[in-house]
Amino acid sequence: MERTLVDALARDLAAADLTGGGVAALVGDAAQAALGRMMAAPARRAALRSPGPRSTLLRALVLGDRVPTAELADALPELGVDGAVALGLVAVEGGTARPLLAVRPTPFRDALGVGEWWIASDLDELSGVSRLRPDHVLGVGGAARTLAALLPPVRCGTALDLGTGCGVIALHLRRLADRVVATDVSERALHLTRLNAALNGVDGIETRLGSLYEPVEGERFDLVASNPPFVIAPRAEGVPAYEYRDGGRTGDALMAAVVQGLGAHLQPGGAARLLGNWEAVGGRDGLARVEEWADASLDVWAIERETLDPAQYAALWLRDGGTLPRDPDHDRLLGAWLDDFEHRGVDAVGMGWLALQSPPAGRCTARFERLPQPIALERAGAHLAEAFAAGEWLAGLDDAALAAEHLHVAPDVTEVRHQRPGASGPTVIELRQGGGLGRTVSVDTALAGLVGACDGELPVGTLVDAIAALLEVDAGILAADLLPRVRELVVTGFLRPVSD
Ligand SMILES: C[S@@+](CC[C@H](N)C(=O)[O-])C[C@H]1O[C@@H](n2cnc3c(N)ncnc32)[C@H](O)[C@@H]1O
Repeated sequence: MERTLVDALARDLAAADLTGGGVAALVGDAAQAALGRMMAAPARRAALRSPGPRSTLLRALVLGDRVPTAELADALPELGVDGAVALGLVAVEGGTARPLLAVRPTPFRDALGVGEWWIASDLDELSGVSRLRPDHVLGVGGAARTLAALLPPVRCGTALDLGTGCGVIALHLRRLADRVVATDVSERALHLTRLNAALNGVDGIETRLGSLYEPVEGERFDLVASNPPFVIAPRAEGVPAYEYRDGGRTGDALMAAVVQGLGAHLQPGGAARLLGNWEAVGGRDGLARVEEWADASLDVWAIERETLDPAQYAALWLRDGGTLPRDPDHDRLLGAWLDDFEHRGVDAVGMGWLALQSPPAGRCTARFERLPQPIALERAGAHLAEAFAAGEWLAGLDDAALAAEHLHVAPDVTEVRHQRPGASGPTVIELRQGGGLGRTVSVDTALAGLVGACDGELPVGTLVDAIAALLEVDAGILAADLLPRVRELVVTGFLRPVSD
């Protein structure tokens, strides 16, 4: 890839203001929002009404529309049409340029704030491509945005993006790490990663070809991130395999390999954030499988966001590959998926997030939970890091030491009381978290009283004694009941040590 051509493309995109703001100004907010829902027509109509370089580049590079070669030449004065051909962006057919890649302005948000990149990827649904090629390189989707949001807001030396695709996670990692290694089994993906790094003026990302941890054998990283090809698909004749989502193994074996390999590739104190799918087999919980995969020397936190039965799971990924229920192939492919799940005794598939870390103080914590509620992602990465730190802190405190600590209620916590009409007191008391992972927990009067009194002034033990006196119960018995729940509220971010 020629750097001068990429620089020329960047200058042309900037001159045309092919940015999120520029697109909104050209097509309006509603048409721009429709792009986010993979609907091109409103933006196309608006762009055609306002000809000019931004309109041309929007139609060619964002929507994947053919445009007259002369029009593209006007829109790319520095790169030129020959340059666009040399970069693999378009093919020229007669007087028309046919897009081969998308290049889209992509706003982002991560632990360090907001920004925008141009991201090149393969043409997709927004560009009118319904059946994807097997070596399709994914653009930036919801999964990548979620993984970016889970990254810890901590600067570090080295980071690994395993299965980098178009390189968007590697770009996020580079904001945190001095040096990033981005791996993939797809040479096309690595080419696009290099293109995207150059297009956005980002250095320090090294691309390496190979499967799983092969390209980084013997190396350890401060931060590992992966949105791996975790999709479970039948290994059957006539079932298409897409490189971007399917690692070619049976069931969730690829996911297992990614998790199992982490121990050998994390620096002491290093962290990993993964997205993944795991199977519930033979009546056993899928999260129990994740527990088996995780290296016992690592802290592990598995969050199952959604659980699908085999038919729901198969339909989801058939739709993702462009096969809809009305398509002639749909039921045959669905049957192959159901056969595979049935053959291997799979009852359901869990989909979610994994956070692991090499514990700084050598004490391991483990959490396996289902959190189906909506979660605001803005502070998710910071929250996971804080929760691990809180777990570490608590692991070093016995109950007597915890009782001597001063805690305060996090500012995003509210209390909700539900009461039967005419009743003298509440039947249900809930604590709700506005941030963190958006949890709601039911508490009894004693715990509600304790949390309400946690303003940092008095130690936890003194508050427990006071509540025991008020409720006329034994203070020792109440402490034994409350302190484990206080620990949970500290890990989940409802309560914080005053020293924080
Ligand atoms: C779901 S995509 C993720 C792309 C990008 N990181 C993102 O989050 O949008 C998974 C990537 O893993 C790659 N991949 C597939 N099999 C792999 C393997 N065995 N080892 C490493 N990468 C693999 C695919 O080519 C694809 O680029």
